Amino acid sequence: MKEIILLLLFCHVASPVTHSLKYFNTASSGVPNFPEFVAVGLVDGVQIGYYDSNTKRAEPKHWMNKFIADDPQHLEWNTVRCLEAHQLLKAELQTLKQRFNQTGGVHTYQRMTGCEWDDETGDYVNGFNQHGYDGEDWLVLDLKTLTWIAPTPQAVIIKQNWNNDKAGLAYWKDFLTQVCIDFLKKYVHYGKSTLQRTVLPSVSLLQKSPYSPVSCHATGFYPDKGMLFWTRDGEELQDLMDQGEILPNHNGTFQTSVQLEVSSVKPEDWGKYECVFQLSGVKEDIVTKLDPAVIKTNNPGKTGIRADGGGETYRINTALVIGVVGLLLLLVICIAGVFICRRNNNGFRPANTLETSSAKPASPT
Ligand SMILES: *[C@@H]1O[C@H](CO)[C@@H](O)[C@H](O)[C@H]1NC(C)=O
Ligand SMILES: *[C@@H]1O[C@H](CO)[C@@H](O)[C@H](O)[C@H]1NC(C)=O
Repeated sequence: MKEIILLLLFCHVASPVTHSLKYFNTASSGVPNFPEFVAVGLVDGVQIGYYDSNTKRAEPKHWMNKFIADDPQHLEWNTVRCLEAHQLLKAELQTLKQRFNQTGGVHTYQRMTGCEWDDETGDYVNGFNQHGYDGEDWLVLDLKTLTWIAPTPQAVIIKQNWNNDKAGLAYWKDFLTQVCIDFLKKYVHYGKSTLQRTVLPSVSLLQKSPYSPVSCHATGFYPDKGMLFWTRDGEELQDLMDQGEILPNHNGTFQTSVQLEVSSVKPEDWGKYECVFQLSGVKEDIVTKLDPAVIKTNNPGKTGIRADGGGETYRINTALVIGVVGLLLLLVICIAGVFICRRNNNGFRPANTLETSSAKPASPT
């Protein structure tokens, strides 16, 4: 396993670097205390800008503050694009709500646009323009054939209209393969020291209650190529783990966590377990021993190993409790899972993580 990991790490470092610029726009209705429209821009997964319909101003993040200081016009341009995108997505949202007779409830219309560029060959790699309604793919632009694709039958009529809008299609082809790539090159140039740095995270062990899995949580690392896993006697564990997603922090770093099901681990075996964090391009690993003394919990003094005398008796006595708790947990996970999956499937995310610009005033696309 180690060899495979090392090989993957090596491959990653040796492979050409593809940079991405992505804009996420979300129009929503029926979400209390949440702006009707939100936009974010990301370079290589790091936020470079934010806009919402309350402030009505594009706002640079991180190194883009320097970029904007040198080119204030660029911020104005982004603000205008966001204003346009707001009107456009809001109109799409209203149209679809009416079409599906959905007068109340929470609804979202999302758009992700962007491009990828290979910094070694200097070539354009990819461009995207994807729309989603209520968390499902709605319309996707295929740049190779320059046509819109409708994954659902309900979108077919709109797809035909958009495909007849030759000016709109030409606009997006130019924007995604030229304009977006030019921006991306400039942004990456300005952000070089941020984008090429490596930062190691702080790692903590967390446990909700004595019967919960122990979560190893790494936060504050950069880039997002971090690997987190549990080992037993130095061997990587597969089956006891539940690997989480790599999520962005607000300050341009990332976090992830991995769970260890400790209910099946004998108290005397705890010392054999370690949580290991590895960052692509960094030789040193961060290793944290599974030690009840370092586990953080909301139930002080009640980590799994200490809940009572421990040992076999403890486990047998609590088997039923664990079963019931497990069932309830499963139920909660199922409900949460359905909700999250609905929102997440097709690359769209829940409204509060999303956003930004890319509208063309004259075109519905
Ligand atoms: C919406 O309501 C109208 C009139 O009540 C009906 O004709 C139409 O089929 C409904 N559409 C959908 C998608 O349910
Ligand atoms: C970034 O934010 C994370 C999460 O709040 C925090 O753990 C980390 O220390 C922060 N890093 C920096 C460099 O501020």
